[in-house]
Amino acid sequence: MTYTRRKFLRDGSLAALACQTSGLPAFASGSSGKFVTTMRAKVATAQLAPDGYPQTPIWGYDGTVPGPIIRVPQGENLKLWFVNEIPQPSTIHWHGIRIENPMDGVPDLTQPAVPQGKWFLYDFTVPDAGTFWYHSHVRSFEQMGRGLYGALVVEEPDPPRVDREKVLLLDDWRLSNDATIHDSFESLHDWSHAGRIGNWITVNGDGRWNDAAKRHERLRLRLANVANARELSLSLIGLEGWIIAIDGQPVPALIAADEFELAPGQRVDLIVDVVADVGDDSVLAVHLQDGVDILASFAVDGIARPGRLPEPEPLAPNPVAVLGNLANARQEMVLMSGGAMGGLREAQLNEQVLGPRELAQQGMFWALNGVADMPDTPFATFHRGETVILNVQNETAFPHAMHVHGHHFHTIAPDGAVGPLRDTFVVERNDAVKIAFVADNPGDWLFHCHMLEHSISGMKTWFRVG
Ligand code: C2O
Ligand code: CU
Repeated sequence: MTYTRRKFLRDGSLAALACQTSGLPAFASGSSGKFVTTMRAKVATAQLAPDGYPQTPIWGYDGTVPGPIIRVPQGENLKLWFVNEIPQPSTIHWHGIRIENPMDGVPDLTQPAVPQGKWFLYDFTVPDAGTFWYHSHVRSFEQMGRGLYGALVVEEPDPPRVDREKVLLLDDWRLSNDATIHDSFESLHDWSHAGRIGNWITVNGDGRWNDAAKRHERLRLRLANVANARELSLSLIGLEGWIIAIDGQPVPALIAADEFELAPGQRVDLIVDVVADVGDDSVLAVHLQDGVDILASFAVDGIARPGRLPEPEPLAPNPVAVLGNLANARQEMVLMSGGAMGGLREAQLNEQVLGPRELAQQGMFWALNGVADMPDTPFATFHRGETVILNVQNETAFPHAMHVHGHHFHTIAPDGAVGPLRDTFVVERNDAVKIAFVADNPGDWLFHCHMLEHSISGMKTWFRVG
């Protein structure tokens, strides 16, 4: 699998850009952006299933799955003309970017959805270096399930020394025997249970991703779980190294990376050395119910150097605000309820209190603080700069991968220990997680389950930073 690496056009070639897309206005002169590009959501095909199977009709950015890797240096401005050519309205959300609110890509909250045939200019700066990603935020359970996602890499000014880097986006597809995407996107069983779990896991759209490598070569792997709902339990064999960043944010001390979990939406940056012998494979494996599967493999065909390189230094932290005194922090409760085997006794939907049958008839199975789907008013309004603690309590029979827009947070352990920064966290069933962050990004921000079937069927809300 080769990716299309998006080439950015420099300021001088804006005319060329404007011609690519008839109807797009020319840039105003004096535009400060150096990184300008166009990206189209398109109907296309991809070879997802193994050779011998037909190609799969997909929806992809620029017609590929994943979409192009977008690379921007830290602190720079990106201008991206999004052109929607799929037969549904769409938007792009820049997952994990502490972005200006109007560029966050949430339909009806931060922008109107872009109809088929129309365009929207995303124009924002990227404050944090790290591994981020972008995806559709309209009918995500379908649009992402058909392939509308890609990686956004924000480059450090002073990156760690590695021989090569690979971006690996891990997806879970539900394919029929003829390799088409199964069109059961609106399965209410999936919505009320664990979400759309697929039957074909790919790396960068390839079910047998492989590459060659040299013994003692040092690789940086940027991993993201872009699946609708499947949590991935991963391990490395013949690769040894460290987790250097989580959800795009550097960890203060490197973490040994032999086994780790990646829930939908989450990322991890690894620095790994190839330690398998020449003739063997170094692999990234996934642990499934019925055994271990190889997701990505590197065939070791030579020796890069006589021994391993020294342990790397931790990455420099990003400019994320430091938590204030937690003892005085503003505390809010977020209670998760609903789903099968737990049930929603009643919930508010569009200002009305409804029972489980009426909720199910409207495709609603989950609630946050007793409200299914987006409330008209935010569940909380924070002062700008305030340190906030959310006590998130899961009273359902399923784990959830909760994503905060516009901010990174720390999880706070029961003993008060402050965990690494992240943007998506898992709350296990019948468990509670406390997160803390500085609400310093003004605007209206979504807080939702990244298991996309849960989000569409009620598990989303929003807060305001004033
Ligand atoms: Cu990655 Cu609201 O999404
Ligand atoms: Cu969920």
